[in-house]
This record gives sequence, structure tokens and C-alpha cells, in this order.
Amino acid sequence: MRRASLLAESRHRMPVGMHHKTKPQQATGAQRRDERERRGAFRGKARRACRPARDTLMQQPLEVRLIDLTVAFSRALDLVSPAVAAHHVHVGFIASRLAERLGLPDRDRCELLLASLMHDVGAVPLKAALEGLVFEQDMDSHSRAGAVMLRTCPRLAQAARLVRHHHAPWCHGRGEDGVSATAHVIHLADRMDVQLRRGEDPARQFPRAMERLERGRSILFRPDALDALYDLTADPDFAAGLRAPECHLHTGAGARLEEETLDADGVISFSALFSLVVDSRSPFTATHSSGVAETARLLARWAGFDGPQAKSLYVAGLLHDIGKLGVPLDILEKPGRLDAAEMALMRRHAEHSMDILASVPGFAQVANWGALHHERMDGSGYPYGLTATDLPLPARIVAVADVFTAIAEDRPYRHGMPPDAARAVLRDQARDGKLDGELVDLLLSRYEDMDAARRQAQDRARHEFDLVRAALEHESNPATCHESAA
Ligand SMILES: [Fe+2]
Ligand SMILES: [Fe+2]
Ligand SMILES: [Fe+2]
Repeated sequence: MRRASLLAESRHRMPVGMHHKTKPQQATGAQRRDERERRGAFRGKARRACRPARDTLMQQPLEVRLIDLTVAFSRALDLVSPAVAAHHVHVGFIASRLAERLGLPDRDRCELLLASLMHDVGAVPLKAALEGLVFEQDMDSHSRAGAVMLRTCPRLAQAARLVRHHHAPWCHGRGEDGVSATAHVIHLADRMDVQLRRGEDPARQFPRAMERLERGRSILFRPDALDALYDLTADPDFAAGLRAPECHLHTGAGARLEEETLDADGVISFSALFSLVVDSRSPFTATHSSGVAETARLLARWAGFDGPQAKSLYVAGLLHDIGKLGVPLDILEKPGRLDAAEMALMRRHAEHSMDILASVPGFAQVANWGALHHERMDGSGYPYGLTATDLPLPARIVAVADVFTAIAEDRPYRHGMPPDAARAVLRDQARDGKLDGELVDLLLSRYEDMDAARRQAQDRARHEFDLVRAALEHESNPATCHESAA
């Protein structure tokens, strides 16, 4: 229950360490002095500039539990389609309970939970992603794309195999054709969740749902898994769990996963996967997060941050736009100017990013550094309207990296700005009090190096983006026994 309340608190949370909305306002004498000191220190050594109160978190090592990161990213996936609210956490819960009931080995149960929580990740780049789960026709392609994505993170190699086959019908080899029998558990859990309408008592819906699933016995679904599901539907705790599945993901296999932590490199690898997920939604932003991450990392090193700190900044760059999973695609890709309502929806992505990142224990720095990338030094940014005194130096670095990458990168509808024009934009934004002038000067002093590093990072990310697209466009072989049971 403690975890449930923590998760509830994480909704719309403020930057970690701040407790009230800070409006743009006149700085007091003390604040101005503070700011002068901060800038003075930065001119000398950036490491000393991190001493002001808001950066006392600076020395935290980057280490998080695998289950915490997975649940947070699963919630991010569920932002894509409010129509199927919390599909991934529901499937994670159902699959976990099925695995317990089936007596699967611990190791398989852990991998099953990880895979279930991200099983439809390959549907994110689809135009109709998750809309009412109407992508049955795309079952093979989104399974294939999901596996391609998860394979980019070595820790998720086994989960990738499960995701690859999470719609495989049981009649194709009965778990002996190279498709793990565990993958069939996700299939049944997924189809069970599709039967259940949110906001209605799950227990009342069980008879009708089981009647429909029964038609797929031995054709679509593992018979023993279906039997286990009958047992679960007779258990009042299962129906209660379905009303708040997030609260129950940290027991059983989830508890075992809590013992597994990711170090900085593990976090980077997992976060790179999610930057690919976010960016793959639209060719408009196909490699943006990778560009921001690399430029933030490099700017941090030039500014004097040490290796571990620069790694945290790299992660903040990779995940700064994770909240964009909650922005409708037609707004992300609108060719013209956004109207006021659309702009408000677009701007909410920064708040979503904060909600998601701050919900991960041990991720306070990443949340504050990444999710504040649209805040501006003069208070004109969003979503909190913070001012220079509230913005830690690393958050300013991500803001500069974001603006630089956005104007320098090529997009499908335009080329990136030529260096002279990009330099002028950055200079103007520093002069107008939007971006940190010292950081902009630092970037401009080695502009070509920075631009080359950005380009290389985005070229590497482009390769992965193309692999995902190829997986989605690959010709599928429809499953005959699947069709006959539909
Ligand atoms: Fe799926
Ligand atoms: Fe699904
Ligand atoms: Fe953004």
C-alpha cells in the first residue's frame, strides 16, 4: 500500500525538491547575489557551480531497480492510448498471476513480467497505435518491431524473445516450435485484458470473457493456462487486483526483480531503448533524443562535470521527451502552427516527463535535469515557469542541448539550420535571457566539434530507427489456425 500511495503522489509532481509553483518574479537581493555567485563559480570550475542548494543531489550514484524503471516505462507506454488505459500494467498483473498458478520457474516468471509490461512496445510507431487494440491485423509486425526494440538493451534479450511471439497461436507447435511456452502466457493475459472494460466490476465481466476465450482453447491458447485463468477468476483477490494492478506488481516475480539493480551503464542501455520508442513514433523526431543526449553529455564534460555526472546527463537527455508518448500523433506531426488548445496539449509533455521520471526511486536528478528542458532562465518557459535561481546547471545544459539539436538536425520537412544561422539563434536566446549565456558561449566556442558529435549520434540512432521501421513493414504470414479461431 505504501507503494500505491507513492505512485499516487507522483502524478503531476513538481520538480523534486520544490514544493510550490514558482512564478516569474523579481529576484531579491539575496537571489541576485546567489545567481552572481553561481555564475562566478561556473566561470572557474563547473563542479563548484553545482554546490548551490538545489544541486546537493549531485553526488548521488545512478543506480535504480530494474522493476521500478520497467513499471515507469510501462506507464509511459500506456500514455499512448488513453482508450486502453493501463493495458500494459494490467497484462503484467494477469500474466504474473497466471505464471504463479502454472508454477513456472522463478527465472521465467521474472522475464515474463518484464516482457508483459512492455509487450506492445512495437505498436508505438504504428499510426493507430493501441487505438482500441485494433491492430490484430498487425499482430506479427508489432511483435517483430517490439522484439527489435527490446534487443537493443542486452538485459532484455530474453524478454525480446517473449515479445516476438506474444501473439503466436498455441496450435503453432504447442510451445515446441522455438516459441517459448511462456510467450503463450502473455498471449492469453493480453486477450483477457482486451475483454475487460475499465470502470466496470471485473468479476461481473469474467463469465462472458471466459466464454469468448474458451473458443480459442488449444487453438489460440495454452489449455493449461486457460484452466489457470478459470481458477484465477474464482479468486476474489484477482478481481480486486485488477482494479489497481500497479499496486500488485511488486510482489511475486516483481519482488524478485526488486533485488536486481541497474548500474549507470545498465540504466543508459534501458533508457536508450526508451528514447528509441519515443523517437520512433514519428519520423519528424526520429533521432532527436539521441542528439540531445550526446550534446548534453559533451557540454557537461566541457563544463567540467565528471564521468558519472555526465552519464546522468546523458540519461536525462535520452529521456527528456518521454512524456511525448502522451501527445497525440496528429499534434506531434501537424505541419502548420498549433492552435492554443493543441499547444497546451503539446506542452503537457514536459509535465508527463516529470511524472514518469520522478516516480522512479533514485531518479530524482534525471527527472530534474531532463524534464525541465523547456524552462527558461527568465521564467518564460514551461511547465512550472521556473527562473534561473531554480534551475540547476545540469537542467540548463539539457535546455541548451535541446534547442541546439532541434535547430541543427534535419527533419523530413526541412534541413537543419546552417551553422551561422544556428549560432545566431543560440546567441539571441542567451542575450534574451532564455538560455544560460555561459553554456551557450561554451558550445559556440567549439561549435563544429559539437555538431559533428551530434550528427554521429543521430546517424547511429537512425540505423536503429530504420531497423524498427523495416520490421513493421515486413510482409506478415497470417496464421491459418489463428484465423479459424477468431
Ligand atoms: Fe500485442
Ligand atoms: Fe497487448
Ligand atoms: Fe520537449
